[in-house]
Amino acid sequence: MLKRICGLGWEVYQALPLDEKITYLMQPDGTPFHTLFAQQFGLDLLTRLATLTNEIRAISKSKNGTEFLRSLLAHKRAMLYFSQPSSRTFLSFLSACQILGMPSGEVRDMATSSEFKGESREDSVRTFSSYFDLIIMRTQEKGLAEQMAWVLSNSDRPIPIINAGSGQDQHPTQALLDIYTLLRSFERTGGLRDKTIVFCGDLLRGRTVRSLSNLLLNYPNIRQIFVAPQPLQVGADIQMMLKERNIQFELTDHFHRAIPQADAVYMTRIQDEWDATKGESARIDTSRFTFGADELALLPKDAVILHPLPRRDEIDTVVDSDPRAMYWRQMRNGMWIRTALIAATFRCEHQVHAYYRN
Ligand code: CP
Repeated sequence: MLKRICGLGWEVYQALPLDEKITYLMQPDGTPFHTLFAQQFGLDLLTRLATLTNEIRAISKSKNGTEFLRSLLAHKRAMLYFSQPSSRTFLSFLSACQILGMPSGEVRDMATSSEFKGESREDSVRTFSSYFDLIIMRTQEKGLAEQMAWVLSNSDRPIPIINAGSGQDQHPTQALLDIYTLLRSFERTGGLRDKTIVFCGDLLRGRTVRSLSNLLLNYPNIRQIFVAPQPLQVGADIQMMLKERNIQFELTDHFHRAIPQADAVYMTRIQDEWDATKGESARIDTSRFTFGADELALLPKDAVILHPLPRRDEIDTVVDSDPRAMYWRQMRNGMWIRTALIAATFRCEHQVHAYYRN
């Protein structure tokens, strides 16, 4: 039974330390009910999800297995509520629902929703909860998924919410697929420990970097190098978090010095949709923060290149055919680990294990 947030007003709840908030978001077995923050995922849960993902992938290879997976959540319905553009997150969650047999509905264009007529977000989300059993939401506004989770947790239909990207702040399920991709990439090189991860690009406004930097804290001796033009360098809160946890990290604008140290390079695009003034990003020299043939030559042979995508010109297409380029696999991994997350949210983990063992 989910610990309800009864009696706590939004302001009181919001002011709680994150660790305490998280106790309201988890199920008794340590699985998220609402998935809102990367910080909800500790090593045990990440390991469980990676195992579940591997099993789902293996099961899906046969017709019988596909039918088994489709039977798991045929009695539940999912709502995809994306008020901000998305290709990968939307389609991978949609595919995940289809794999689990969950019928789904969607609102992507607010002009087709009664929000256009002035309905509040709270009333919209409560409306969705009347028809659906899960809401997967992407929003421009930081903290909105959390606020809606609070609204639903205090309603008579406390259904789960999965944060599919909120403002510049969090993209927890992207971090899950990034971790899963790193785990698979390092299977033959000692696993995700004693590694150096180089982040490059717009590290200030990229929510995927923030969430992944957090999740990496679960793995031993991971050094993080942040490569960005000074105005787009990673935020003070992430730096503070790394300092408090005694994590080795470095800020630099010398990409070519960082690449030879990398076990993984995590490229990101310039997030100019967040510009406060028109053309702000275009005035920053980002020409040294791209990955092409010269950077491939500097990259160690066992290292991998990730990108949450979409990309613009920060990774040259010449890189796509290099065996170290993982971003297309990374994208597909998103579908599988999101399937595992939904299955775990609805407590299907043991059924999957039992089918896999047999
Ligand atoms: N990585 C990611 O969130 O991609 P989309 O914006 O296409 O969903």
